[in-house]
Amino acid sequence: MKIGIPKEIKNNENRVGMTPAGVLELSKKGHEVFVQSTAGDCSGFDDKDYHAAGATILPSIDRVYEASEMIVKVKEPIEQEYSLIKENQIVFTYFHFASNQNLTEAMMNNKSVCIAYETVEDDDGTLPLLTPMSEVAGRMAIQQGAKYLEKPVKGKGLLLGGVPGVPPGKVLVLGAGTVGIQAAKMAAGLGAQVTVLDVNMNKLRYVNDIMPSHVVTEFSNEYNIRKHLQTSDLVVGGILITGAKAPKLITRDMLKLMQPGAVIVDVAVDQGGCVETTRPTTHEDPAYIIDGVVHYCVANMPGAVPYTSTLALTNVTLPYVLNLAENGWENACEKNNSLAKGLNIVKGTIVCEPILAAFDWNKSFA
Ligand SMILES: NC(=O)c1ccc[n+]([C@@H]2O[C@H](COP(=O)([O-])OP(=O)(O)OC[C@H]3O[C@@H](n4cnc5c(N)ncnc54)[C@H](O)[C@@H]3O)[C@@H](O)[C@H]2O)c1
Repeated sequence: MKIGIPKEIKNNENRVGMTPAGVLELSKKGHEVFVQSTAGDCSGFDDKDYHAAGATILPSIDRVYEASEMIVKVKEPIEQEYSLIKENQIVFTYFHFASNQNLTEAMMNNKSVCIAYETVEDDDGTLPLLTPMSEVAGRMAIQQGAKYLEKPVKGKGLLLGGVPGVPPGKVLVLGAGTVGIQAAKMAAGLGAQVTVLDVNMNKLRYVNDIMPSHVVTEFSNEYNIRKHLQTSDLVVGGILITGAKAPKLITRDMLKLMQPGAVIVDVAVDQGGCVETTRPTTHEDPAYIIDGVVHYCVANMPGAVPYTSTLALTNVTLPYVLNLAENGWENACEKNNSLAKGLNIVKGTIVCEPILAAFDWNKSFA
C-alpha cells in the first residue's frame, strides 16, 4: 500500500504520525511510504532518518496526499487539508468528530474512509490509542503544576518537594484513572503529600496497593473535595465519564476555599473540564488566574513534548497501520474488532452512532 505521512499544520502541533522505525517496518513488508519534508523535525527525526528507513521524501503536503492510499497523522485535518483528502483514501488519525460539525461534513463529502484513533476500543472497554496521551498528560500535569507554583508566574512560591526542615506541598488528584495515577506517581516521586479521590472503589484499591504511603486515597464527594481544597497547593483534574462532558467537581464558589497562588491543572479540559472556571488554553498562553487561583488548562498537553509523545503514540498505532496496509481497511476491520470500532465515516456514511447523536442527526442524513 502507498502510505503518506504529512507534516502537522495545526497550531503548535509538533508530533508526527510515524517514526522512522515505523517506516522501516512498513518498507520491509513492501509498502511504499511518502513522508513530507521536515514532517518529523520537531519530534527529533529528520528527512535523512526517514529516507534511510525506506521512505520517499516529498516536498509538499499536496504531493503526499496525492501519492497515498492511506494517510497516517496525529491531529484531525484542519480546513486547509479538507480538499486534499480523496475519495476512498483511508485517513487514520485523531478526529473527535462529535465536537466538530464542519470537519464531519467535509469528511462525508470527500467520501474518504475515516478511522479515528480515539474510538479504537479493546474488548475490556479500554481505548489503546488514547491511553499513552493520558499517560503523558498525567505526568506533565505535575511538571507544569510545580512550575506554576513558582512566584514569578504568580504561584504561591512553593517548592513541591519541600527541603529538609520545610514540609513538602500537598497535591490533590481528582480521578484515579490513567491521568490520575501518572500524576500521583510523579507527585509522590517529588516527595509531595498526595491525596487521590475517585468514585470507583476498585481504582482506589489499586492506587492504595501500588503507591507509597505518602499517597492516600479517599472517596470522591463534595465534602471531601471542599475539605482538601483548603490545604492543597496543587489540584489535578483527571476525571472522565466516557463520552460525556466532565462533571464540575470544583464550582466557582469553592475557589474561595483555596489559598492564593494555589494551582489547578485541569487535564480534563478536552471534555469541558471538571472545574467550573476552566476554559481551554494553548501552549502559547497556558495559564490564567481567577480568585487568586492559577488555572492551567491546555487542551493538547502532549503536543509540548513531541519527542516523547510521538514515540508513545506511534508505539501503539503501528500494529494497526501494519494491519490496514497488509489487508486493506475492510478485511482489517473484519478481522480486528478493536480496529472496526475506529471506523467513523465510510465513503460519506457515518458509521459511529455517537457522532449522529452529537449533532442530533438521524441515520437518513447519511
Ligand atoms: N489536556 C490534555 O492534553 C489531555 C491529554 C490526555 C487526556 N486528557 C483527558 O484527561 C481526562 C482523563 O483521562 P483518563 O485517560 O485518565 O481517563 P480514565 O477513564 O482513565 O480515568 C478517569 C477517572 O475519573 C473517575 N471519575 C469519574 N467520575 C468521578 C467523580 N465524580 N469523582 C472522582 N472520580 C471520578 C473514573 O472513575 C476514572 O477512574 C479525559 O478527559 C481525557 O480526555 C487530556
